[in-house]
Amino acid sequence: MARELPKTRDGAPRAFFGRRSGKKLHRGQQAIFDVILPLLEIKLAGPLDPRSLFPKAKKIIVEIGYGGGEHLALEAANHPTTGYIGCEVFTGGIGKMVKMIAADGLENIRLFTDDALKLLIALPDTSLDEVYLLYPDPWLKTRHHKRRFVSPTTLAELARVIRPSGTFHFASDIEDYANWTLTHIVRLAAFSFAPDAPGSWHQPYPGWQPTRYEQKARREGRLISFYFSFRRV
Ligand SMILES: C[S@@+](CC[C@H](N)C(=O)[O-])C[C@H]1O[C@@H](n2cnc3c(N)ncnc32)[C@H](O)[C@@H]1O
Repeated sequence: MARELPKTRDGAPRAFFGRRSGKKLHRGQQAIFDVILPLLEIKLAGPLDPRSLFPKAKKIIVEIGYGGGEHLALEAANHPTTGYIGCEVFTGGIGKMVKMIAADGLENIRLFTDDALKLLIALPDTSLDEVYLLYPDPWLKTRHHKRRFVSPTTLAELARVIRPSGTFHFASDIEDYANWTLTHIVRLAAFSFAPDAPGSWHQPYPGWQPTRYEQKARREGRLISFYFSFRRV
């Protein structure tokens, strides 16, 4: 059966390759999905005001493609008055994240388990303080570039949902994806990129927790990463 593509505001179609499951879940993991995930999961049934998820939060931050969830868990533990929405489609990552939330008693994370673009589309204008996109799937082949999460469609949604002076953080170890993102961002008046000094974009964000993908990239000899922060004008 054909999968329905997320509808974008301008009606542009977008390639997305769906929730991915890895190995078959064992009984303990299945329990995580059956019992704990439903308490944390965001089910969209129309527009979503994120304030309704975190009525007392001072800030709301989204992390797209949190993978194993190391960065999201540490940020949420360090900033208990911020509400976090984590988006991930990979079953193994979702399971790890749910386990960490339960083990660490994190009360300020909710999870979205479908394409992050669907979540962005459902959010009101200027409803987020920050968005993290850390080491998105690089899709190295030219014919696969259209699968990259950064695209005119997703950037337009990010520009709409991030409040003025809010931030879109993008990190990657792939120079071509870093350049791709800069090329797309500079076309938009909505974001400014004003690094402190040339090369400062190679310094990790303050309090940085290396993600699983970053650690793997380093083991494989890709030692330089790009840590961009784009300010919503
Ligand atoms: C290369 S991994 C990086 C994971 C993690 N950020 C890290 O640095 O370890 C990219 C992750 O993004 C997730 N992902 C890709 N497209 C997505 C989408 N449209 N919505 C939500 N998650 C997505 C993938 O399932 C994958 O786990």
